[in-house]
Amino acid sequence: MDYKTSACKKAENLIKKGSAVILSVETSCDETAAAVVRDGRHVLSNVVHTQIPIHKKYGGVVPELASRSHVERLRPVTEKALSDAGITLSDVDAVAVTYGPGLVGALLAGVSYAKGLALAEDLPLVGVNHIHGHIAANYISCPELRPPFICLVVSGGHSHIVSVKDYFCLELLGRTRDDAAGEAFDKAARVLGLGYPGGPKLEKLAQKGDETAYRFHSSFNAGEHLDFSFSGLKTAVINLLHNAGQKGEPVNPADVAASFQLSIIEILTAKTIKAALASGLGSVALAGGVSANRLLRETMQKAAESRGLKFYCPEFKYCTDNAAMIGSAGFYALMAGRLNGLDLNAKANLSIEQ
Ligand code: KG4
Ligand code: ZN
Repeated sequence: MDYKTSACKKAENLIKKGSAVILSVETSCDETAAAVVRDGRHVLSNVVHTQIPIHKKYGGVVPELASRSHVERLRPVTEKALSDAGITLSDVDAVAVTYGPGLVGALLAGVSYAKGLALAEDLPLVGVNHIHGHIAANYISCPELRPPFICLVVSGGHSHIVSVKDYFCLELLGRTRDDAAGEAFDKAARVLGLGYPGGPKLEKLAQKGDETAYRFHSSFNAGEHLDFSFSGLKTAVINLLHNAGQKGEPVNPADVAASFQLSIIEILTAKTIKAALASGLGSVALAGGVSANRLLRETMQKAAESRGLKFYCPEFKYCTDNAAMIGSAGFYALMAGRLNGLDLNAKANLSIEQ
């Protein structure tokens, strides 16, 4: 039997059973990750190898170095995921892999590896949208959560308000017109001299600052629409530091960090709650690397619950890039019959609705 026929047969059996052990791989940016997830909700192992030490000295991700490091780490990371789960490849039912959006070279490393595994082991292959993966992190951490709900996806590359109508029926309600929220955190952190990756460092510094010290405005975000704009806020931080430097006035970086963080969080929260109330859906979830921000989690939770909305967010370890979330989304894709062939390719700018 050829690969295609036998993978399809195996997938049909898994769909009938409604159950599958999925080996998942994620390499869209600067983490090489592999995980084993049962039935979309139970994480048997979750291994993440971060490339931060490689990219740190450049102040951001260097795509070529990222791809090379993925190629080197994919095998040991996957072997660890299997051994941590206490299984071997023969216990795996299907392989899931992120195929976009992300850095194309980085994605290709994971996609090629996953295709090789699927072919060698004769297993069904499922390509997963990275953003669907971030949303699915909530299915792991919140067993009772099921669509429909509104999800704010905030990462280094995306700021989306999404209506999750069903596991694979997503509608984009709002998006950033320029920088993503994580990108804004990273850029502000850079001008404050905090280094890469900036988001967590800025959050830490903000804890020591006065969030009312400065007010960073952006008139675009005051509109009734659900889109965001963050580049104006970032420019305001740059101008503040530049002007103070020229006048020789002291600036407390912790105050700048705290005020900047609050400005972004207020915008994200107001738009997300507005979308949730307008949609009539009773639940709001967070996803993506920025959802690891404690103030964002607390602010969104308070705002949601005070309006009678249920609030969900992933555990910290599932907020930033990981493969467990890809295994969860991969399970629901498999159950929906969304199988890929060995012609699966990386798509750097895959849209959320694909
Ligand atoms: O989802 P993710 O791991 O990778 C992408 O898909 O982009 O998100 C990474 C982004 C980075 O911009 C990082 O600075 C930001 O998430 N981030 C945070 C925090 N932790 C990660 N931003 C603010 N506060 C945090 N605690
Ligand atoms: Zn991500």
